[in-house]
Amino acid sequence: SWTSENVAEGLIEQARAQIGQDRVICGLSGGVDSSVAAALVQRAVGDQLTCVFVDHGLLREGEAEQVETDFVEATGVDLVVVDARERFLSALAGVADPEEKRKIIGREFIRVFEQAARDVVRAHEPGGQEQGEAQGGADDHPVRWLVQGTLYPDVVESGGGSGAANIKSHHNVGGLPEDLQFQLVEPLRTLFKDEVRQVGLEIGVPEGIVWRQPFPGPGLGIRIIGEVTADRLEILRRADAIAREELTAAGLDREIWQCPVVLLADVRSVGVQGDGRTYGHPVVLRPVSSEDAMTADWTRLPYDVLARISSRITNEVEEVNRVTLDVTSKPPGTIEWE
Ligand code: XMP
Repeated sequence: SWTSENVAEGLIEQARAQIGQDRVICGLSGGVDSSVAAALVQRAVGDQLTCVFVDHGLLREGEAEQVETDFVEATGVDLVVVDARERFLSALAGVADPEEKRKIIGREFIRVFEQAARDVVRAHEPGGQEQGEAQGGADDHPVRWLVQGTLYPDVVESGGGSGAANIKSHHNVGGLPEDLQFQLVEPLRTLFKDEVRQVGLEIGVPEGIVWRQPFPGPGLGIRIIGEVTADRLEILRRADAIAREELTAAGLDREIWQCPVVLLADVRSVGVQGDGRTYGHPVVLRPVSSEDAMTADWTRLPYDVLARISSRITNEVEEVNRVTLDVTSKPPGTIEWE
């Protein structure tokens, strides 16, 4: 019978058999899937696994710490953190077009991850390449594995095949260069999302990660309408943290699919605060209900929750003087604004 304990044990056993004595790498995003996949593989092969977390500076408040501190403490994974915040900001400077921003973030992500992976491989295989050549034969390249958090619906969607061609999302590390070829370990490929969560809880992945709502790979970079700058990120991060805090306090986290907060950074409107006129930015609340993100409806949040979010954001985030609500379903709107 399906119990998260049985399933977790089976998956750990499988991963152990698959990986053997080899080295394995996993890119962590802070999301549920990569976290649970990494935790399973850690249970299977311990320190043969190295996780890489690229901090692109587009995460929400507390999310980097959740990976760097909470996740590491709870699971004991060996983690390499790459602080790429400056690099992403420079690459995004002056760019307002949504697709352009996405491309830049994706490109930089792959470059940074690649370099980190190369460093990890080097660190663990001193002179590996030369040794292989000396020995010759089929063992020239030590076998290396890359963990992917592929779920069952992804497998079905992509026609049941495996392999690099099916790697999805922003952690798309397909097309890695020759010297960085990996085989894939996909411990979640038989599971649905709710099963992944149960397995995650079973093996001690922190609740904050297990229950995290979907968050796009390009992060806050596509929730700032206009150019992404450090100041704007800071404004959005504060507004977003307030909205999340209030939704959590109201017990609504598991009722809504997600609630992006969007900063209209190039728009200003006149307001009044105390004795003075303000000329600040609006933010948009985008609460949605959905089964699979393909379609969505806007969530009818209680007015008092909306009121609290609005008054806290406008009081606590000086640069924001207006809070608006997106009441568009998908279609025709998408969930994200970019
Ligand atoms: P849209 O805006 O297309 O979003 O209605 C559907 C779902 O996908 C998430 N999303 C992304 N997730 N990388 C991701 O990993 C991305 O580039 C990306 N873009 C959108 C979005 O948050 C929503 O859950």
